[in-house]
Amino acid sequence: MSASKATPSTTGLEGVVVAETRLSEVDGQRGQLIVSGYTVEELAGHVSFESACWLLWRGELPDPSQLEEVRRALGKARERAFQAIPRMGDALRMGDGMESLRAALAHLTVSNPDLVGQSIDLTGAAAVLLAGWLRHRLEQTPEAPNPELGHAEDLLRMALGRPPSPRAVEALNTYLVTVMDHGMNASTLAARVVASTGSDMVSAVVAGVCALKGPLHGGAPGPVLEMLQSIDYPSRARSWLERELAAGRRIMGMGHRIYRVRDPRAAVLEQAIERLARAGLANEKLELARTVEREAERLLQEKHPDRALRANVEFYTAVLLDAIGLPSAAFSPTFAAGRVAGWCAHYIEQHAVGRLIRPASRYVGPWPKSLERPK
Ligand code: COA
Repeated sequence: MSASKATPSTTGLEGVVVAETRLSEVDGQRGQLIVSGYTVEELAGHVSFESACWLLWRGELPDPSQLEEVRRALGKARERAFQAIPRMGDALRMGDGMESLRAALAHLTVSNPDLVGQSIDLTGAAAVLLAGWLRHRLEQTPEAPNPELGHAEDLLRMALGRPPSPRAVEALNTYLVTVMDHGMNASTLAARVVASTGSDMVSAVVAGVCALKGPLHGGAPGPVLEMLQSIDYPSRARSWLERELAAGRRIMGMGHRIYRVRDPRAAVLEQAIERLARAGLANEKLELARTVEREAERLLQEKHPDRALRANVEFYTAVLLDAIGLPSAAFSPTFAAGRVAGWCAHYIEQHAVGRLIRPASRYVGPWPKSLERPK
């Protein structure tokens, strides 16, 4: 970890380098996301989630037989996770999807000594547990996985309780690949800190879920959809947003710690929604979202002329996941079902580093009278 002096302006650890990684790079000025040697635009919409997992875990895109290997292994992992559900108590009956995922994942233990094997188990499990929670929420029995299907298709089939359209599967694949890794974001740091203590991969992934749950990180897409539903007509966007800002509230899906331009993932997802729209699957929310984004950008520019607050990945996540039939309550857990692949990859990387992450703090509490205060 590079040295930095703690001052009020650095309490968010902006700019502090905590790891060297081959996994991903975020360039906030240029609006670029590189994932293991490829731009997000080269991967999302072009390779399956399984291929991108292999890239993160093994460092290169798979050849056809490796792709088949990871596809089958993920299918088996989904089956194992489904068989474990009866041992998870009420974990899948919780009201909140992230609380459910946190509780359900915490029931797992690592048995496979191979770290990529563990990554496969956890990534398979996240999909099954998210879908199982959704079925319970509708008072229906969880759907058993079909290991013959691709991961995105099976996730969506289990979540919806019916076979999804190929376009919806393509959109979910694009989404999962888009969000699987993103530099040293808060949940990835949380997972790496746990990994650095020598703890197990399940614990690191649970820590990632806990951090992702917060509305400033992965909890934004649900509120984005609520915002779009509440605005309802493009002509109402400006006055609605003005009221929110006047009330001192943040516009969800706008702004980013790193990006000073539009988040490149927003564009990738917007294009995926356009493809859905051309196939007659996206609803009218795309046009509404575009208007809301334009108006929000304009108002935030007026309010914070020195700080470019543009759309982030969560903005179009809401529109895409809604269009493929997922309810807003499932948005954050679906984010986790993609990001889990990144957390596991970071676990593997941090494990190889083998050094405890243990930063410093600056004491500002009362000083004992018995001690002389150092100069
Ligand atoms: N709506 C309104 N105001 C916002 C804003 C938003 N979405 N994002 C930032 N601001 C304001 C802040 O309140 C701050 O104002 P102040 O200086 O008057 O206090 C100013 O812009 C600068 O904030 P900044 O330092 O850029 O924020 P950050 O780096 O601490 O936070 C986020 C980044 C993502 C947490 C923040 O932009 C946010 O809360 N966005 C909404 C939630 C969201 O979409 N999260 C998903 C992130 S991928």
